[in-house]
Amino acid sequence: MTLKIAIFASGSGSNAENIVRSFLNDSKFEFPIIISNKEDAFIHERAKKINIPSFTFSREDFVKGEPILTFLKKYEIDCIVLAGFLLKVPEVLINAFPAKIINIHPALLPKYGGKGMYGHHVHETVAASGDTESGITIHYVNACYDEGNIIFQAKCPVLPTDTPDMIADKVHALEYEHFPRVIGELWGN
Ligand code: GAR
Repeated sequence: MTLKIAIFASGSGSNAENIVRSFLNDSKFEFPIIISNKEDAFIHERAKKINIPSFTFSREDFVKGEPILTFLKKYEIDCIVLAGFLLKVPEVLINAFPAKIINIHPALLPKYGGKGMYGHHVHETVAASGDTESGITIHYVNACYDEGNIIFQAKCPVLPTDTPDMIADKVHALEYEHFPRVIGELWGN
């Protein structure tokens, strides 16, 4: 059976592209749609390149949830992967996809999570913190930002001389290495 995964992304979409490319020759997974909340996000360019239709929904649609749920049902979506998606996932979706929505966070949760903690904001906070390590957290999504059960974490060292950009590069490398693998292990059997 093929598992149909919808990817949600708000920004550049490099994780989304990496995930799709990782499973190109794997018939267990299909990525029928990419969903965004930003019409001008670079993810739409990437989606064209990897031949996946991408759609934008308004903030209101994401607050209500029903329009998104109807859309996902139309495409017979089984699971959702948040890859740099910055809005809260509506409860309607969380209830409709129990343990079927996962997120990647660019830090070692429970540190540096919650509202407003995304992308570069996280790396700036880590750089200013004096922490000697950062990393990634892949977790289930529940109704609270970044609080769902943790599935996997990986660490990277942070040096006192590291800039937020340097930390971001290390974290992205971990994301590209582990996110597709964890998806495969979680849902591929
Ligand atoms: C990734 O680093 C991801 O972990 C982060 O946004 C970046 C998106 O990069 N997600 C969050 O901060 C969620 N709170 P990408 O668009 O190039 O994949």
